[in-house]
Order: sequence, then structure tokens, then C-alpha cells
Amino acid sequence: MAIILDGKTIAKKLEAELAAYSRIREIRLDVILVGDNLASATYVRNKHRAAERVGMQSVIHTLPVHTKSEEIEQLIEELNSNEEVDGILLQLPLPEQLNSEKLLDSIHPMKDVDVFHPENAGLAYLGRPRIWPCTPSGILRLLHEHEIDIVGKHAVVVGRSNIVGKPMAALLQHANATVTVCHRMTKRLQDFTRQADILVVAAGSPGLIGKDDIKPGAVVIDVGSEFVNGKLTGDVRFAEVEPIASAITPVPGGVGPLTIASLLSNTVRLASLRRG
Ligand code: GUN
Repeated sequence: MAIILDGKTIAKKLEAELAAYSRIREIRLDVILVGDNLASATYVRNKHRAAERVGMQSVIHTLPVHTKSEEIEQLIEELNSNEEVDGILLQLPLPEQLNSEKLLDSIHPMKDVDVFHPENAGLAYLGRPRIWPCTPSGILRLLHEHEIDIVGKHAVVVGRSNIVGKPMAALLQHANATVTVCHRMTKRLQDFTRQADILVVAAGSPGLIGKDDIKPGAVVIDVGSEFVNGKLTGDVRFAEVEPIASAITPVPGGVGPLTIASLLSNTVRLASLRRG
């Protein structure tokens, strides 16, 4: 039987630390939501609620699906120069007509809570992070809180997105793991996943990983969160894998709550770096 890596409990602990901080200083996070993607609206609502729980100011800018790029650029510009704003998050995915890269690049690096700006990503990959992206730093916190040793372990990351896979691999390497990255073009994926002491699955492919894909005793972190038949579903077949793993995250209640807590923590960190 595996230890269940309960993200909710650890997120609560992190929220308590953040609440103590935001009693001393006002912190403000602005989120831009364009269009009516249901999953995005749900994530944004969860972020907003978490911010309110810790006493942070949370402002959501909801824009219609056909909003022109110039309008969003102008809003970002205003938020960049507003001294009261500590963090800006442009919720992805954006509607098709918009160039995500260009818009993300226009967010001021000192307010870029997602670490999408090349300056922040570059600093992180050089081992000089201002902050780490929310999901990878949440996962590291989860491992740390459960006293799971990383040093010298073989970590296998499935997925190479800018938001999870790439920074996760960099952060694990920074924490002295030996890291292998797999992706959709990897041949014989199982040959790699079965070698993992720590397996992080961020493929966005529900149920991809089953009992034959892991080494007995592995630590399994499931970043997947797709709605399948109305049910939030991970990339790991939990019921199959849990009896073999030494520790595993559930979906929901594993990585998700910590991602949001890390977002708030990143906002606080950037506020203190910017304001001194
Ligand atoms: N869409 C899904 N997750 C995220 C995230 O962490 N940040 C942003 N900006 N968009 C997302």
C-alpha cells in the first residue's frame, strides 16, 4: 500500500504561512481570462477563492472570446505599471486568434508568476531562479513535506511542456536527481518509466500509465487533470498503480491544490523582490 501524497493538507499548511504574510503586507494578484473555456473558468475561480482565503487581493479581468490582441496588450501594460499589482497571470489556453507567446512576453518579468517570460525561465534554467513555475515547485514541496529523498534518485518526467515538463526536469536536476525526459515521440516509453525511482507524469493523456509501467516502490506523481465523462481524471491509473508504488498522488487532491498554493507563494515572493 502506497503513502497517499495528500496535496490538500500541505496546501492548507502553505496557505496558513501565506495568510500570516498577507496580514503584514497587502498583496495583489491579477488574472486575465479570455473567452468561455469551462475548465479555465473553473481554475480561475479556484485561484480566486484560494487568494481570498489567505487574505490576498485577487482581481479577475474577464474578457470576451473575440477580444483583440491590442486590448489585452493595453490591459497588461496598465497592470505592469500599476504599483499595487504584484502578479499577473494570463490564463491559458487563449482563443485561437491570439498569439500567446507575444502576450506572455509582454508581462513584466517581476510580475510574471508563471515563469513564462524568457528572462525568468532563463534564470531558472541557469540555476538562479527568482521563482519556479507553480506546478513543479508544488511537487517539490509535496516531496519535501513527505521527506522523500531526491538526491541521486532517477527521476523520469513524462511530458515536455513549458509549464510543467521542462521546468520540472530542470528543478529535479537542480535538486540533484538524475533526470530523464520522455515525450509523445519517445519510443518504448515503458522502458524508461520502469526505471524511475520518482515518476512525474504530465502528458495530458488520461490513464496513460498503468501497473506495468512502473517499478515496484516508485514514487508516482500524477499531474494529469482532464475531464473525462465529467470526472477529473489523471494520467495514472490510480487503482492499479497504488498497490505497487511506495507513494502516489491522487487526482483530484494531489498536485492541483499545491499548484494554486504555489501560485500565491510566487506572488508573495515576486512582491518582496520587487518592493524590497
Ligand atoms: N492553464 C492551465 N494551467 C495554467 C497555469 O498554471 N498558468 C496559466 N497561465 N494558464 C494555465
